[in-house]
Amino acid sequence: MDANQNQTRPNPAWAAIATEAERLKRTKLLDLFAADPTRAEALTFAAPHLIADFSKQRIDAPALAAVAKLAEAMDFEGWREKMFSGGIVNATEGRSAMHWALRASDPPPEVRAAQAKMAAFAQRIRRDVDSVVHLGIGGSDLGPRLIIDALGAHRVRGIKVRFAANVDGADVRDAIDGLNPSRTLLIVASKTFTTQETLANAEFVRAWGPAHLAAATAAPEKAVAWGVPRDNVFPFWDWVGGRYSLWSSVSLACFIALPTGAFHRQLVGAEEMDAHFRSAPFMRNLPALSAAIQMWNREALGHESYALIPYSERLRLLPAYMQQLEMESNGKGVSRDGERLARSACGVTWGAAGTNAQHSFFQLLHQGVREIPVELLVNAGAHEGPPAHRAKVFANALAQARALMVGKTSGEPHRAFPGDRASTLMAIDALSPEALGALLAFYEHRTFTQAVLAGINPFDQFGVELGKEMANALLPALEGGQTPAGVDASTATWLRRLRAQ
Ligand code: F6P
Repeated sequence: MDANQNQTRPNPAWAAIATEAERLKRTKLLDLFAADPTRAEALTFAAPHLIADFSKQRIDAPALAAVAKLAEAMDFEGWREKMFSGGIVNATEGRSAMHWALRASDPPPEVRAAQAKMAAFAQRIRRDVDSVVHLGIGGSDLGPRLIIDALGAHRVRGIKVRFAANVDGADVRDAIDGLNPSRTLLIVASKTFTTQETLANAEFVRAWGPAHLAAATAAPEKAVAWGVPRDNVFPFWDWVGGRYSLWSSVSLACFIALPTGAFHRQLVGAEEMDAHFRSAPFMRNLPALSAAIQMWNREALGHESYALIPYSERLRLLPAYMQQLEMESNGKGVSRDGERLARSACGVTWGAAGTNAQHSFFQLLHQGVREIPVELLVNAGAHEGPPAHRAKVFANALAQARALMVGKTSGEPHRAFPGDRASTLMAIDALSPEALGALLAFYEHRTFTQAVLAGINPFDQFGVELGKEMANALLPALEGGQTPAGVDASTATWLRRLRAQ
């Protein structure tokens, strides 16, 4: 079947997957290790800056081969090439998805020009400001926020970066707290430049009197009309989805707060991962195999969610970032052609940084009734802070993965651990800009592969629209106006209860 055809007809590959799943459901993880002494190496795969060990997953070569057959039937290679050749992979919006072009070493001329403009602006503005306030939400917030946090060790000293996204005013009030407006740059990041939360926050901060205004947007005229000097409007384009926009001008704050060249190094790492994803066959392709494991856990074994645990304080925002990337991309109920899906393209992504999470929800992971697969990520390179901490971080990550699998018998039921619980252990080679770029590109391509396996379009997000429309319709009633006709009794009661005094 080629990349343009309907994929929702019953797919015989699923019968083979179901057979493998029935076999493996009856097999203990430790027995898989006992049966194959090479398992740890055989199920560890590498890509630029990243390795992943799937050996503690309830999967083996025949099961992976069955998923590879599904990938073939869903034309994984065709869709992958369609994305990388700029084809319309986002058919519902008539768009290509070319976020990868933002990190290409030979980018389109408009991308190169925007990058040069950002680099020059960053150099200049660092002389004038000591603070940057970045306002945006969703994809216009989570990416740069993660990058700034993750590359904190590389930050330019003396430049503070504050973020606010929420329309709860506490967020934006905290963002400017203690800053000097005459030494502050306000960046408004919004692809559409129509997002209620971002514009409300931007108006508040603009009224506070920041010395400089800039915008990152795909709607430059709207930014200019709002009052951003045309020279300070940094474009991106329709073919960059919001949650894939951290490679674009949305990361202007990172250009400013990271040393010259650091953002470029991140693009280089991402491009390395793009090259791997684009060329490696499915069975050696790390993003694709990782997508296969996710789909296997969810659709073949029935685990609805997975916990993402970065054993790295600097990657503590990764779960929040991944929630948007995976669930806004793949949280869909219909195929590309609008047919209802029998199998989902994503489950629930959740998690928090280890070791902190061990002291909260790991109880559920170890002894809860249902198994929840876990993905642990460590930084195998240099660590910051006291040197002795590094080994402790690793000991904890390894111990958790091992404890989940091995469990513990006990005469006392409350002290017993069922074990036989799956995890993936991944390592980046350093917390460098290159490795961060590669890691984030890895996750983008994994998300894309899951969409291909399920036959959906991961690049639209109509599911977020209805709530936005209703919020706009209800707002006047909360500001003292009439309750709109036809509102349900519960909402009407709440409108009365919360109406402005
Ligand atoms: O919440 C939906 C969404 O459209 C996201 O996809 C997007 O990243 C976010 O809102 C912000 O949109 P914008 O960049 O247009 O302000």
